Amino acid sequence: MLRAIYDYIHPTMFITGSCEDLATRLAQKAPGIDRSYFLSGGSEANEAAIKLACQIQVERGNPTR
Ligand SMILES: Cc1ncc(COP(=O)(O)O)c(C=O)c1O
Repeated sequence: MLRAIYDYIHPTMFITGSCEDLATRLAQKAPGIDRSYFLSGGSEANEAAIKLACQIQVERGNPTR
């Protein structure tokens, strides 16, 4: 069941049933991808993706990459 868009809340501290439902549906449609991180727009999503990529390199021992 789809719920209203106002079920979105920033995921840093909280989660909603709608976000859990959507994450489950996305995981079913994209085998191998079992995590979702919902944000409020394209610019925020791109910023989060860049930060995640940088953090992965730090964790791998490549802090300048
Ligand atoms: C791929 C992409 N889609 C959409 C947007 C638009 O972002 P917003 O939803 O914050 O206006 C951006 C902005 O950086 C983007 O890079």
